[in-house]
Amino acid sequence: MAPPHQLLLLPLLLLAAAAAAAAAHARTRPPSTTDVPPRAPTPWPEQFHAVMFTNLTESGGRLQLIDLYYDWPRGRNLNLIRDQLSGDPTYDVEWTNGTSFIFDSATCRIIRFPVGLLPPDWLAGATYLGRELVDGFDCHLWTKVDFVWYYEEVATGRPVRWNFFNGMQQHVMSFEVGGVLEDSEWQAPAHCFNGNNAAATSVAGDRVDSKGGRVDVMNSLIRFAEAPAVSASF
Ligand SMILES: *[C@@H]1O[C@H](CO)[C@@H](O)[C@H](O)[C@H]1NC(C)=O
Ligand SMILES: *[C@@H]1O[C@H](CO)[C@@H](O)[C@H](O)[C@H]1NC(C)=O
Repeated sequence: MAPPHQLLLLPLLLLAAAAAAAAAHARTRPPSTTDVPPRAPTPWPEQFHAVMFTNLTESGGRLQLIDLYYDWPRGRNLNLIRDQLSGDPTYDVEWTNGTSFIFDSATCRIIRFPVGLLPPDWLAGATYLGRELVDGFDCHLWTKVDFVWYYEEVATGRPVRWNFFNGMQQHVMSFEVGGVLEDSEWQAPAHCFNGNNAAATSVAGDRVDSKGGRVDVMNSLIRFAEAPAVSASF
């Protein structure tokens, strides 16, 4: 049997644990004023480098680690995709004129999309769904016409996670504002340009529909969201 002084300590320990839990709760739920729904997600910086832990298991794929370089002023976006336990990374280089080069060290595919890149304010007009603890971060959650669920950290405005209509879940592991990749890394290799290896595809006409800005953003979003899955089936 425990000596009496230890029995006396037990309620104190429970009290301390409860106080710690309350303090933790208070940290994740700051009071009133910040509970006013924010109008829109923080626009993307014009240039950033993010490392994305990507989970494609709900869309028929596996896990990927992706270096994402978004470079709006230069009209380009790059996914450097590493599949789990695979040595040869896949590059997905997307240009604002609609051309995407998807290549590894041996093969290349050129896809022509009828749409450009996502603009930095592509989340404007998204529907606010409230606050949620996701990946351990206190986040605001928005959705854009049920195509994307976008989680942004309340305290910093950084993106934490986005989930797409196609089942892809991306967790932001690092987010470096202003991070750029040197020009040479964007250059598609020679084997993209010799007829034998390169396969060119044009994305079908039903995607060409662009009656207004909103439609363009949605089509750009489809282009953005499908790149990791395309590379997985590569
Ligand atoms: C990937 O997503 C699936 C489906 O949501 C989930 O069950 C699984 O735990 C996830 N895997 C990892 C490593 O996050
Ligand atoms: C789009 O731009 C890239 C990079 O400059 C270029 O390689 C590609 O040929 C262009 N595509 C078209 C259709 O002009």
